[in-house]
Amino acid sequence: MNNGVARTPPMGWLAWERFRCITDCHSFPESCISEKLFMDMADRLDKDGWKDVGYMYVNIDDCWMAKERDATGRLYGDPERFPNGIKALADYVHGKGLKLGIYEDYGKLTCGGYPGSQGHEETDANTFAEWGIDMLKFDGCYSNDSSKAVGYPLMSEALNKTGRPMVYSCSWPAYEGGLPPKVNYTELGEICNLWRNYGDIQDSWDDIVNIIEWWATNQNVLVPAAGPGKWNDPDMLIVGDYSLSVDQSMAQFGMWAILAAPLFMSNDLRDIKPEFVQILQNKEVIAVSQDPMGIQGKRWLNKDKIQTWSRPLQNGQYAVAVLSTRTDGTPYNHSFSLSQLGIPSGAYDLLDLFPKKSMGKFLSKDQISVMVNPNGIVMMRATPVKFAVPLFDI
Ligand code: DGJ
Repeated sequence: MNNGVARTPPMGWLAWERFRCITDCHSFPESCISEKLFMDMADRLDKDGWKDVGYMYVNIDDCWMAKERDATGRLYGDPERFPNGIKALADYVHGKGLKLGIYEDYGKLTCGGYPGSQGHEETDANTFAEWGIDMLKFDGCYSNDSSKAVGYPLMSEALNKTGRPMVYSCSWPAYEGGLPPKVNYTELGEICNLWRNYGDIQDSWDDIVNIIEWWATNQNVLVPAAGPGKWNDPDMLIVGDYSLSVDQSMAQFGMWAILAAPLFMSNDLRDIKPEFVQILQNKEVIAVSQDPMGIQGKRWLNKDKIQTWSRPLQNGQYAVAVLSTRTDGTPYNHSFSLSQLGIPSGAYDLLDLFPKKSMGKFLSKDQISVMVNPNGIVMMRATPVKFAVPLFDI
């Protein structure tokens, strides 16, 4: 959507995958969905270097509301868990130079059973704008296909009418199988800033492989749908949670950058291990994700459980990823040339992005040989070589 926001894939933190619908703050004071959780995460984003590299959004997911609307029909935060109200939380988050995202659902109820927006679109959009909300994730439980086709555009209009720019994240296509003809990506690009195309990610490497496979299989549909202000969303980053190894974490992060995906971490920033911080704050990989051209990457090679992807970047540069889903225990030697990845002929400087190490100069037809770890990634940036003296001096 052309509303001035999310011109590059938005970055931040989102509660759902890690903190779910924990509402018992007496038993779980540190992890329940409460203003404390979001204030804690805002503090960490602010103080631990996250904001400096681009993670700006603190996003609430399901289970934040009171179970009923108030007497005037407006939503409000659960009074025990959000005693100061959402506006105060937004002020706190803004005070840290960050942005606050919220969650609703186009249905009678949210997936977690809280009041949905159906029939209240304008009231809710106005409430969010008054609170100072910066992003809305709009889920799709408890509504059918035809009411979604009305509801998602209606909420888009209501948000725009408030005059407050809010990133609009639509779960609509995920409920419709994610593919045309049921899903109309042209329309989504006009009314939403990003959209969940596919199922929910869990804390699992298999999910990541499965998501990447679906993205590759459908790349001819998905790549043209994406661009500044409109992004395909393969769901949250689970780096720093319980299941991924360091190599798998680099693989998810690198692939999400190649896919021009929104980068929303769902982890506990209060006790995340330093090796995961280092991965998620890698500026070279973030620069790939945030490339201003906003062109989503494609898979070009796929053999022996080694996939090779490329993504066009500004100034004739390309990001390249070699992803291994092998499990045979030892790094695998993979050779390819840039010309096999749709990269124009010429000479390129190659930078290996995770170790931030130069790999030297290569012609596009040269063989490049990398060692890629099991369930791991090698991520590179290819920069066209600029010669100091003209090649042909006449
Ligand atoms: C389904 C969504 O896909 C998830 O990301 C999460 O928002 C849950 N609903 C919340 O109930």
